Amino acid sequence: MSESGNDSPNDPRDAIDAQGAQYPREKERDPQFRESDADDGRKGIPFVGAGPGDPRLLTVAGRDLVETADLVVHAGSLVNSELLEAYCDGARTVSSIGKDLEELVPLMRDAYEDGKTVVRLHSGDPAIYGAALEQMDALESEGVPTYFVPGVTSAFAASASLRTQLTLNEVANHVAFTRPQGKTLSEEEDHIGEFVGMGDVTTCIYLGTHAVSETMDRLLDAGHDPEIPVAVVYHASWSDEDIIEGTIETIGECVEEAGYRASALVIIGEAIEGSGYERSYLYGDWANRSQSDSNSQEADD
Ligand SMILES: C[S@@+](CC[C@H](N)C(=O)[O-])C[C@H]1O[C@@H](n2cnc3c(N)ncnc32)[C@H](O)[C@@H]1O
Repeated sequence: MSESGNDSPNDPRDAIDAQGAQYPREKERDPQFRESDADDGRKGIPFVGAGPGDPRLLTVAGRDLVETADLVVHAGSLVNSELLEAYCDGARTVSSIGKDLEELVPLMRDAYEDGKTVVRLHSGDPAIYGAALEQMDALESEGVPTYFVPGVTSAFAASASLRTQLTLNEVANHVAFTRPQGKTLSEEEDHIGEFVGMGDVTTCIYLGTHAVSETMDRLLDAGHDPEIPVAVVYHASWSDEDIIEGTIETIGECVEEAGYRASALVIIGEAIEGSGYERSYLYGDWANRSQSDSNSQEADD
């Protein structure tokens, strides 16, 4: 039972609408400068990124939080059980799989109001396809403060496994984090073809392992070069990680043969190969550059 004497949560939709009322789309926003220090607002339930799987890729901040938690609500099979075993020994661990907001919010709220230390553990980084904000807004509407603690998203683990960069001088200037059409995205909202068509974008597809063949077929039908490199990294950073490399034309069959239907990152673009790049401005001709020139813009590092 909550402090408010209320077992069921407020309607989570109301919490989302309340956020919308604070920042109405139709109204022009006044410019604001918000002074903030990194510790501001760090109270309540942290929404922590568990990283891609390898327990060592949990941040130090995240580890400190789960090690002292009484209740850890985690994202099921996408959070490596080795991480839970290593760091959540003293906590009750509950998977969020199969639970809706109406169950999750009271679970965390009641534990918090009972004085328990609660951590919500998302896979990778909660800001990428994490559906964290709707839980946070629902908790806040129940009077429970929340905050984010970032993690390493799986695209970064995958690029490390491929030993490449997602941005690479003269090869890929941009990165798109995206997902294919399906239950959540309509055909019109699927922009994979547009990103690939831009040529200098590395396209990282989350939530698309089950649909690699269909996605590649759509790219071929739209006339994209069948030779564009594609990598599928299953369980990046886990001990059973697998890397499948091919092209838009070949990758679908390889993934089907391997039998992967979930938990892989699909990366499309020349940067996968980690070659054909130019040396960077940052490390070029440094000795002949004036100080004002080197201070004039942010440098890659
Ligand atoms: C619900 S999304 C969560 C993404 C997560 N928030 C992140 O930042 O990585 C789940 C998708 O992330 C990708 N994913 C998560 N962990 C992964 C890993 N270790 N290796 C490859 N892909 C992973 C898969 O595409 C999976 O379908």
